[in-house]
Amino acid sequence: MNQIWILAKPYLEKATKKDMVVHTKGVLLAMTMLLKKENGDKVILIPSAILHDVGFSKVPKKLQTSIDEEDRKKSLKLHLEYAPKIIEEIMTKVGYSKDDINKIIEIVIAHKFQDPQELDKQLLIDADTLADLFKEQFYVNAKDYNKIPQEFYNIRKDNKFYTKTAKIIFNTELKNRAKEIF
Ligand SMILES: [Fe+2]
Ligand SMILES: [Fe+2]
Repeated sequence: MNQIWILAKPYLEKATKKDMVVHTKGVLLAMTMLLKKENGDKVILIPSAILHDVGFSKVPKKLQTSIDEEDRKKSLKLHLEYAPKIIEEIMTKVGYSKDDINKIIEIVIAHKFQDPQELDKQLLIDADTLADLFKEQFYVNAKDYNKIPQEFYNIRKDNKFYTKTAKIIFNTELKNRAKEIF
């Protein structure tokens, strides 16, 4: 896992949309928490969490930071398109089989624009959303998006989740952020 993080970090540092290293740290933590209660495949899901946004490294800055809805959509589409090649490269280096690499890629490309039925795919989407509410991620992201915490809280408070575990963790985090800012 450490090796995957080391190989992924340079890609995450190239992203401009927000602090993607901080974000990914949060998604990894969220995934670890979810996997304590939910039945996901750790061997596949931990790398999926670390690698899910590496595709942003190749998305043009002007799309990533644009406030235009179409640009934003294009940026999200592209970050999914660029991900498989980078994931294959990194996971081959750490010795994963073709089969496992393909599983990771399938989960990663399903984390936007889809409403998957498979638990593994749902867990990555839940971890991705959940991370935004963690303390460090919440305040760093709010700054990245030029929002004051109260505004940011109101955007995030209606987030939806697939798993019960994510809902429970989310409610706890939401209460903690509310205590800090109101
Ligand atoms: Fe993403
Ligand atoms: Fe993400």
